[in-house]
Amino acid sequence: MARTYLIAGNWKMHTTPAEARTLAAAIAEKHSSLKPPSSVQTLICPPYLSIYAALEAVKGSGVHIGAQDCHFETKGAFTGEIAPNMVKASGCSHVILGHSERRQYFGETNALLNKKVRAALSEGLIPIYCVGETLAERQEERTLAVVRTQLVDGLKDISLQSASQLVIAYEPVWAIGTGLAATAEQAQEVHAAIRGFLTEILGAVGAEMLILYGGSLKPDNADEILSKPDVNGGLIGGAALQADSFAAIIAAACKLAAS
Ligand code: PGA
Repeated sequence: MARTYLIAGNWKMHTTPAEARTLAAAIAEKHSSLKPPSSVQTLICPPYLSIYAALEAVKGSGVHIGAQDCHFETKGAFTGEIAPNMVKASGCSHVILGHSERRQYFGETNALLNKKVRAALSEGLIPIYCVGETLAERQEERTLAVVRTQLVDGLKDISLQSASQLVIAYEPVWAIGTGLAATAEQAQEVHAAIRGFLTEILGAVGAEMLILYGGSLKPDNADEILSKPDVNGGLIGGAALQADSFAAIIAAACKLAAS
């Protein structure tokens, strides 16, 4: 069976609307020239204010656009926040939730993220729910326990009709933006465990869900990491800010999907 991949760029707090338009257009052009099969999907997640420009730039290319966060209410007195229905109405298909930078710098907890995941699902957005351990937690051999709690609490009371409604990203905190990626074996070990936890929490659909790896994923390690059986794509920060390096990761997924 052909393998399915989602290659997602997390632009974080980078790109003005004009910069987003240029970068998204360059990615769309490279994406089109790769002619990816339908089993390889590409997504870019610009800052909110650059979503519109990116959407216009990728029109017709098959590249999807997502947001990096959303609130759990649909409207109200929440100054500075963006509701999931607004994200959806802006043309986004996905929303990243629980990125470790949100957990670390903005105090987002598993309980809060559970509300966000449920709200995003109810608007028909596909959450990319992020989990991952810190360096201290890995050294204390608590990786799987930490990830399991993030999944059990973050996905509480969720029922899915189809595995395509939700995506998980495993992002070891020590690998994000550090240049120090997990080895392919480390990634596979945690991804396989996550698949087991998802089945335990969500039933049969859990086994079919896409689990992305994130944390210093680059053209030179993409082939090896993406070849692992439980790795279904990547959530990419630094390397997603250059069309060339992002396209090289998409190309690696296309090659693996065809093999
Ligand atoms: P990185 O970021 O690829 O720059 O390590 C990944 C992420 O934070 O999603």
